Amino acid sequence: MPVYLTTPIYYVNDKPHIGHAYTSLATDVLARWHRLAGEEVFFLTGTDEHGQKVEKAAQDAGEDPQAFTDRVSQAFRDLTASMNLSNDAFIRTTEPRHREACQALWKRLVEKGEIYLGAYEGWYAVRDEAFYGPDELTERDGVKFAPSGAPVEWVREPSYFFRLSAWGDRLLKFYEDHPEFIQPATRRNEVMAFVKSGLTDLSISRTSFRWGVPVPGDDAHVMYVWMDALTNYITALGYPDETSELWRFWPADVHMVGKDIVRFHAIYWPAFLMAAALPPPRRVFAHGWWTNEGQKISKSVGNVIDPLALVQEFGLDPVRYFLLREVPFGQDGDFSRAALTNRLNGELADALGNLANRVLSLIQRNCEGRLPGVVRSAADTEGLFAAYLDPLPSRVAERLEKMEFHLALEAVFEAVREANGYITREAPWALKKTDPVRMLAVLRNLHDALRVFATLLQPFMPDTMARLLDQLGVPADARSLAALATPLPEGLPLPAPAPLFQKIQNAA
Ligand code: MSP
Repeated sequence: MPVYLTTPIYYVNDKPHIGHAYTSLATDVLARWHRLAGEEVFFLTGTDEHGQKVEKAAQDAGEDPQAFTDRVSQAFRDLTASMNLSNDAFIRTTEPRHREACQALWKRLVEKGEIYLGAYEGWYAVRDEAFYGPDELTERDGVKFAPSGAPVEWVREPSYFFRLSAWGDRLLKFYEDHPEFIQPATRRNEVMAFVKSGLTDLSISRTSFRWGVPVPGDDAHVMYVWMDALTNYITALGYPDETSELWRFWPADVHMVGKDIVRFHAIYWPAFLMAAALPPPRRVFAHGWWTNEGQKISKSVGNVIDPLALVQEFGLDPVRYFLLREVPFGQDGDFSRAALTNRLNGELADALGNLANRVLSLIQRNCEGRLPGVVRSAADTEGLFAAYLDPLPSRVAERLEKMEFHLALEAVFEAVREANGYITREAPWALKKTDPVRMLAVLRNLHDALRVFATLLQPFMPDTMARLLDQLGVPADARSLAALATPLPEGLPLPAPAPLFQKIQNAA
């Protein structure tokens, strides 16, 4: 079964920050995991380049919107390389193929009687590019604010509408029939409560600015930026050409999103698709938000975290590891340098890095750098292997299926701790004199354990685990989950080991 995974497409009004890196990273880990399991994956990311917010940002920068978006979009494309994202494509909503897809979807909705011309009068937040009902707003100093904290303005203009009000019951039935559609459960409950409270028709065009996809047959209007943006997920698969080679990836398996944009993905998007007689996505997963050392991240506070600066300081793989290890995915979490340093120095450098270095150095020194054969005692088989290593791939798979990245990593590190206990108990360095045959067996068992860890951790730390697998002598074609079933041959020559992680010395 082909697997289709997406990140949100990012607004190009500003440069990438930790929130963007986080959503993309989680999606990247999933994509790599599915590939490791032998599945065919299409992983999409990109940039959201239309709308009033981007138009304003271009004006403020004194640039033409296209030149501005070309420049900022490139920064997001560069981020995919710096974070080592394995995306298969990068989409921009200013591409001609996307305009075509948006207009085709629009026309289909018109044919189905789902769109009508009216006038919009109501509250709009440019920062969120979202409309809000009066009962959702709060007022401070004469200014009204959306629940997100964005100021709203009163908008009055002719507008096309999508008959969202007619879709409430069908959406609720869809959520009932597909309880996995919106996750985690808290988000599902919020969405269902919102839909149950009654949906109004959705304004899907604007006439007060120009930076968008023109409405087919009525150039005075550009499409509402969220309708334009959501369509990216099918543009990338060739829509409206449903015979395209990539169309078999639809419907998406997971739209990964932050909690702030659930409503668009879990209400508007399936409604548009069902109205156009297209299958809705299988799952929308909403993660939480990061704070920085206990404080809400905001440009005005000046505490925005630059993912590239973090990578420079701590290294890419420790940052990738930390972001998914520290906080249960789906909940809010706090970024702190001390926590990152602890994870790096403790789990990565001490528990995993040292273990690898000890085992591989002992094999170099005591086995002429060649892999010993498999000889397991009953205690090895029942303990280290049956209790920890053999079930580990399916433990990790189950956790990742539920997007419990932190628990997937915890399962691996529980086994890493056990392997550390094993090496201490067995003391292979002392066996050299007393029982050299047992020494070989112990070192082989530990080598097998390291191979399991390195294989399973590849999606999280691709570069470092590739280095570990090199040091373990695992050939490139034997690094999949399935390959774990085939033991490496006795006598395999191993290269000299080198440290995997650099500790941070001046830990807070
Ligand atoms: N353009 C829309 C998405 C359209 S998808 C069809 C958009 N773009 S965005 O650039 O604002 O958003 C990005 C993503 O970054 C969201 O998933 C959002 O939740 C995430 N984050 C922004 N700040 C964040 C934190 N402080 N912490 C974690 N994620 C955060 O919305």
